[in-house]
Amino acid sequence: MNSHSILKPVHVSHLRDQRGALDVAELEIEDKFETKRIYFISGVPENQSRGAHAHKKLKQIFFAVVGSLEMTVTDGSASETVKLIAHQEGFFLPAGYWRDLKNFSENAVCLVLASEHFSEADYIRSYDEYLRWRTNE
Ligand code: TYD
Repeated sequence: MNSHSILKPVHVSHLRDQRGALDVAELEIEDKFETKRIYFISGVPENQSRGAHAHKKLKQIFFAVVGSLEMTVTDGSASETVKLIAHQEGFFLPAGYWRDLKNFSENAVCLVLASEHFSEADYIRSYDEYLRWRTNE
C-alpha cells in the first residue's frame, strides 16, 4: 500500500464465492463522520473528467464499485493521484482539497459518501479562488 498524506485509504474486504461477490468496508478512519448523503457517478465518457472543485467543509469517502477511475487531490503544493478500482480500497478525502476525477473506465461507477447535505455554497469552483482561500485558511 502506498502511503498518502492527504488521502486516507479505506480497506475493502472482497468476499467472492459461487454466489457472487460481497465487498465490505468497516469505517475506522480517525476523522469519521455521519454520512448525510450518498451519490454515484456513472456513464462518464472516455476523456471526460469530473470534479475540478474543492469543498470548504465537506468530507467524503470515494469507492469505485464498478470499473476504475483516477482521483487527483491537491492543496496547491502537494498533490496525490490514486486509482480507485472496484473491489479494492477506497479513499477518505478531508475537507479543503481541490480534486479531479478522470480516466474513468467504461461502465465505471464511483460511489461517494458525504458528510453534509448538498450545498453549492460549500464549493470552490475556480482554482485561483481555491488557492486564495487556502492561503487564507
Ligand atoms: P458536481 O459536484 O459539480 O459534479 P462532479 O464533481 O461530479 O463533476 O455536481 C454536478 C451538478 O449536480 C451540480 O449542478 C450540482 C449538482 N449536485 C446536486 O444537486 N447534488 C449533489 O449531491 C451533487 C454531488 C451534485
